[in-house]
Amino acid sequence: MNRMQRLKLMNGGILLVLVFLGFTLGTYFWQNHCRRGTDLNRNHSFLDLKRNLSHRERTEFNTKRKPPSFLTGRTCTFPNVDPFDPAIIKIAVGNKTTLRCDLDFMPELTYINGRNLKINTTQVDISLGTGNLSHCRYRYITGGPFDYSSVEFSDWSKTFSESVALEEDIEFFEVECFRREPYNVTISKSYFSLIPRRKHLEKLYNVRLKKRSIKYQPQETLNIVMVGLDGLSRHQFLRAMPGMYTYLTKTLNSFDFTMHGQLGPSSLPNLLGLLSGSTLEEVSEWWDFSQPEDAFDLVFKHFENAGYRTLFSEDDTKNGAFYWNNRKFLYPQASFWDRPVHLAMRADKGYIRRNGVCLGSRPISVFQLHYLLDLIGTFPDKPAFTFTWIDKVTHDDTPNAGMIEEHLFKFYQTLTATGYLNRTLVILFSDHGQRWGKLRLTPNGYVDSRNPFMMLTFPPWFLKKVSVSGKQPEREYTCFDHAFRHSSNATRLTLL
Ligand SMILES: *[C@@H]1O[C@H](CO)[C@@H](O)[C@H](O)[C@H]1NC(C)=O
Ligand SMILES: *[C@@H]1O[C@H](CO)[C@@H](O)[C@H](O)[C@H]1NC(C)=O
Ligand SMILES: *[C@@H]1O[C@H](CO)[C@@H](O)[C@H](O)[C@H]1NC(C)=O
Ligand SMILES: *[C@@H]1O[C@H](CO)[C@@H](O)[C@H](O)[C@H]1NC(C)=O
Ligand SMILES: *[C@@H]1O[C@H](CO)[C@@H](O)[C@H](O)[C@H]1NC(C)=O
Ligand SMILES: *[C@@H]1O[C@H](CO)[C@@H](O)[C@H](O)[C@H]1NC(C)=O
Ligand SMILES: *[C@@H]1O[C@H](CO)[C@@H](O)[C@H](O)[C@H]1NC(C)=O
Ligand SMILES: *[C@@H]1O[C@H](CO)[C@@H](O)[C@H](O)[C@H]1NC(C)=O
Repeated sequence: MNRMQRLKLMNGGILLVLVFLGFTLGTYFWQNHCRRGTDLNRNHSFLDLKRNLSHRERTEFNTKRKPPSFLTGRTCTFPNVDPFDPAIIKIAVGNKTTLRCDLDFMPELTYINGRNLKINTTQVDISLGTGNLSHCRYRYITGGPFDYSSVEFSDWSKTFSESVALEEDIEFFEVECFRREPYNVTISKSYFSLIPRRKHLEKLYNVRLKKRSIKYQPQETLNIVMVGLDGLSRHQFLRAMPGMYTYLTKTLNSFDFTMHGQLGPSSLPNLLGLLSGSTLEEVSEWWDFSQPEDAFDLVFKHFENAGYRTLFSEDDTKNGAFYWNNRKFLYPQASFWDRPVHLAMRADKGYIRRNGVCLGSRPISVFQLHYLLDLIGTFPDKPAFTFTWIDKVTHDDTPNAGMIEEHLFKFYQTLTATGYLNRTLVILFSDHGQRWGKLRLTPNGYVDSRNPFMMLTFPPWFLKKVSVSGKQPEREYTCFDHAFRHSSNATRLTLL
């Protein structure tokens, strides 16, 4: 991102620079690597492709094997496959039951009310009978100094049996409760993340907002709330969360980026492009995997300078976008960054279950979306840029997306009910498609893998004010087997 773009970014009206950055970069870097193909408008059906593949190709090709030539030709092509082909539906729709984690874990006996940690007596009654709870205790969790990959715990608190006031600026903590007989048996355990107000910083945020307002005179200020599901293709999103798709497009008039592409096959190149404006190839000129990633100059800083509260949350502390292969940051990059609590939960054997989707008695999606809603609730009238990255639900098994549809649905409803959606751009998206699994071994899965989903939800007043009338934007096509450039659905754009 050059200086000019940065200035524009601060000017509220041009916030979208950020969103489109990754994709325009794609255009910039790859546009000359391929020529336009001739089959852009051809419809391919699953069966069509199947007929043209040998049995071996059909069943075996994946990222490690060479895909059939018609998919890798250096032409620009976007095969038109039917996301609901019956042959695909059979393997692409999984267990749609809403994820529950409370049925195979200790009961949650405590809850947060303001800055108080309280015991839920109703739940105690249900779970073990009132007289049987002995006491609870908690300890605070913080990130280790100069290494945001380790955690430190405070000493355990004094015990309590009703309610206890937490310190003002505490962010993360762990609670455990014990039953009376036998005395020392843990019968409940939970980890919590909170959003501290940090009153001592309020003047700084306010003066930054004022600076931005005087220097750039923004017409309006939108919050940007990004929620990402790792490795979920657009077609798999349509199949796994049909209700969500209908709700977003019909009720919230969201934009569906039907030909959204990727900058690379894994999370790092995609999130790096999106959050820093640089490709992995570019940063590799001065950075290698053993060096701290703080040098990336992620966009959070620029939002902070413009007076925004920033949040970053990622569940997979080891294999996540910025941490796989022992990569790390030395300092948190956003002012609210819940990595310490995720590290603590991961180190607690048996707390994280079912391939990472259950954190104690809570689903990972509920945990992360709650953290985000807590920020919004704490600073309802201050601008925020938030980035919530949910790896574990979809990364290895994309049909699992259906298990958290209900959680996302509630999330959007909360944003609507609180009025927050009326001043926010919400981006629900993914970074790349699936790289392995049954689905990925089919031609459709291969096509899907290059086409992650992205849904943009703007406030209604914002849609009204933008008018793209008359000329339809030209459809853009992409090099199918290289990095894509995106193209929005031209028909929808004109609806603006
Ligand atoms: C592809 O399919 C769509 C929808 O079924 C149809 O409207 C369109 O004409 C088809 N295009 C071609 C080139 O056959
Ligand atoms: C499959 O092969 C037939 C005949 O060889 C050809 O006409 C058709 O275009 C091919 N389809 C695809 C999707 O390449
Ligand atoms: C679906 O998931 C639920 C809860 O996670 C589980 O109880 C149920 O057995 C699963 N059903 C199938 C068909 O896998
Ligand atoms: C307390 O537990 C009951 C029973 O599970 C539950 O319905 C209620 O929502 C809980 N209260 C709070 C404040 O979490
Ligand atoms: C306490 O637990 C014991 C053993 O589970 C149970 O028999 C007893 O009824 C419980 N006490 C109360 C007051 O519920
Ligand atoms: C509970 O107390 C007994 C006796 O003091 C001890 O042997 C045991 O290790 C304790 N268990 C735990 C989980 O602290
Ligand atoms: C949404 O925001 C617009 C522009 O600020 C305002 O005119 C409108 O009243 C708001 N609507 C709601 C429901 O708050
Ligand atoms: C584009 O959007 C329109 C209106 O929502 C829809 O009817 C059409 O099917 C979409 N086209 C594609 C290629 O998804």
